[in-house]
Amino acid sequence: MPKPRVAVLISGRGSNMEALIKAARAPGYSAEIALVISNTAEAPGLEIARGLGVEALAISAKPYGKDREAHERAIDAVLVERGIAIVCLAGYMRILTPYLVGRWAGRMLNIHPSLLPAYPGLDTHGRALAAGEPEHGCTVHLVTEVMDDGPVLAQATVPVLPGDDEDALAARVLEQEHRIYPAALAELARKIHLPEGGAKP
Ligand code: GAR
Repeated sequence: MPKPRVAVLISGRGSNMEALIKAARAPGYSAEIALVISNTAEAPGLEIARGLGVEALAISAKPYGKDREAHERAIDAVLVERGIAIVCLAGYMRILTPYLVGRWAGRMLNIHPSLLPAYPGLDTHGRALAAGEPEHGCTVHLVTEVMDDGPVLAQATVPVLPGDDEDALAARVLEQEHRIYPAALAELARKIHLPEGGAKP
């Protein structure tokens, strides 16, 4: 049985991407990480992916100016050409238009560093600390048109400890991100029905 081919979209360091690539090396894993795309050539994650033997491309948003959908069409063309079946957003810091979300509905995941629906958006750790939350965490969810929203596939909770600063809390959450994202992807990949004759959608 061919495994669904997965693309990971990043914008930066790519530690979740790395966790996905390494998890998918296990023989029984239900998906193949086949492609990494960044919206900027400067993303350190691109080199990490190449070092792990995964094709990694930068598709810069700059030539498209304010036309976000045109940038997404360029990304989508590559996803289709490479036979991608599932897209994982992993620190991909661009707000998507309804075009790309609609194209990948039910097959696009995101990881977010909070216990959604709490703290969508940026600075999640700082806001959780400022609010005096006893617990914080991370969420893997299906992507819908609303940012950091959509059906939850997995969550992990961590305690907020006395003396925590943003870095300490972020590190505790990130450890859990690296655990739940590969698990949630594996579960979705097992449910995906590939078209007859291969993995091309
Ligand atoms: C991760 O903490 C991820 O949850 C967050 O960006 C970081 C990327 O780190 N994503 C969001 O905030 C999306 N709303 P990474 O590049 O090392 O995976």
